[in-house]
Amino acid sequence: MTVRSVVRGVGHCLPERVVPNAEFESLVDTSDEWIRTRSGIERRHFAAEGQLTSDLATQAARAALDSAGLGPADIDAIVLATSTPDLTFPATATMVQAALEMEHGFAFDVQAVCAGFVYALTTADALIVAGRARRVLVIGAEIFSRLMDWTDRSTCVLFGDGAGALILEAAEGTGTNADRGLLSADLHSDGRFRDILHVDGGTSTGTTGHLRMQGREVFRHAVEKLAETAHEALDRAGLGPQDVDWIVPHQANLRIITATAQRMQVPLERVVLTVQDHGNTSAASIPLALSVGVGRGQIRPGQVVVIEAIGGGLAWGSVVLRW
Ligand code: UT7
Repeated sequence: MTVRSVVRGVGHCLPERVVPNAEFESLVDTSDEWIRTRSGIERRHFAAEGQLTSDLATQAARAALDSAGLGPADIDAIVLATSTPDLTFPATATMVQAALEMEHGFAFDVQAVCAGFVYALTTADALIVAGRARRVLVIGAEIFSRLMDWTDRSTCVLFGDGAGALILEAAEGTGTNADRGLLSADLHSDGRFRDILHVDGGTSTGTTGHLRMQGREVFRHAVEKLAETAHEALDRAGLGPQDVDWIVPHQANLRIITATAQRMQVPLERVVLTVQDHGNTSAASIPLALSVGVGRGQIRPGQVVVIEAIGGGLAWGSVVLRW
């Protein structure tokens, strides 16, 4: 018998305030046209003052629980990917645990920036396969608007806030790629590239800091590394491009998404796109896109879904699962 981690439910939360590109024209020297053509972003959501990452995460978690017909009592663990925790510690996952009135189980954060959800999902799968948990709530939640330097036009127009969650549940499989659930994963990081995408704050400065990015450099790595990792994960699952029903990529830039799909030999019609509506929500972008993709009727049970992401670290990776 092979233990598989199967997706049991999915949900998301977007803050109410929608900010169209045009709003940035009065803030920095930019245009709707530049943002659309260079990134594919048309609008993004920003959290309200006082709204916390754990608030968005908790709402997404509740939506995922509802979609699964489960309650907090049914969950053994929470793994939450974020680079914008409410506090340096305790983990934002424990804030969610308390908000859900869970007095059992365990909860912790994973920090791999935009690749955070890929890392969190892989970690949750490992807990399930090792028998440490039966059901894990896996969340990606971010308030990147709090990390922006509002005078830096090259970054402040690109990011947004939101959260997505899914529930992974232990199920019996046959050990073949016909099983539902997580089939393979591929993770990488390379700290030599830490300077091209980082936040210039933390305990070393005593401030939260601002996001700094050498966009063109990150772009170059993304196009090269994302297709490579997706190919590797597909190979490990014994699958090829023709088997892929949906790519659900990290939603940073439409040009990166398009180039990666091309390199993977998967047509753009089989890519779930939310970048136009959400902007780059870092670790939240993939679970948000999964939830929106299910809501649109794109992603259906039995389909092969490839998720892939890259971000600060650099950290990158991919997961292949049968929905
Ligand atoms: O989620 C983590 C991973 N992050 C990413 O994947 C982001 C990767 N990078 C990108 O998505 C793209 O590099 C950007 C969207 C950030 C930038 O696009 P680009 O085509 O690489 O533009 P660029 O950085 O080469 O800049 C082109 C020009 C520059 O002007 P000059 O030097 O050619 O005169 C910039 O100063 O565009 C200028 N520029 C802007 N102009 C209007 C930069 N930002 C803006 C702006 N509005 N907001």
